[in-house]
Amino acid sequence: LQRRHFLRTWELVISVPLFRDLGAAAVADIVRLLQSRDVEAGTVVMRKGDPGDTMYFIVSGEATVHIAPKPVVLGPGSFFGEMSLLFGGPRTATVVATKPSVLLVLDIADLHDLAGRRPEFVNLIETEARLRRDRNDGT
Ligand code: CMP
Repeated sequence: LQRRHFLRTWELVISVPLFRDLGAAAVADIVRLLQSRDVEAGTVVMRKGDPGDTMYFIVSGEATVHIAPKPVVLGPGSFFGEMSLLFGGPRTATVVATKPSVLLVLDIADLHDLAGRRPEFVNLIETEARLRRDRNDGT
């Protein structure tokens, strides 16, 4: 069962370009830290103001980030929920699955461990988090 779970998660993980581009060794390292989660359209994955200890990668489906002045729609290959983990504050926006979606969940302790082992991966996420924060601060 453990092995089947690993293989299924592996397939999901390598469908996300961000992971695929890291190479097999890094993927093997990261796969065992991820949990897949299927959500229905309309599921509120996180609420603005709540504390956050998990981030999500979109394998398939769609998520809408409710920020002013205009919601941002994220598709397969994108991620969300990283800002609370990296910057330490509450969730900056409510995020809703707007299609039935398959997500991969990574928790904060594992992200922090990966920062030591896989800095190239965590740096990618951090760069995007800073861009999003700057964009939000500018509005
Ligand atoms: P977090 O603050 O943990 O929870 C809400 C998430 O919405 C946030 O992390 C980001 O992943 C995402 N988010 C916030 N602002 C933007 C933005 N401008 N563009 C895309 N995603 C965003």
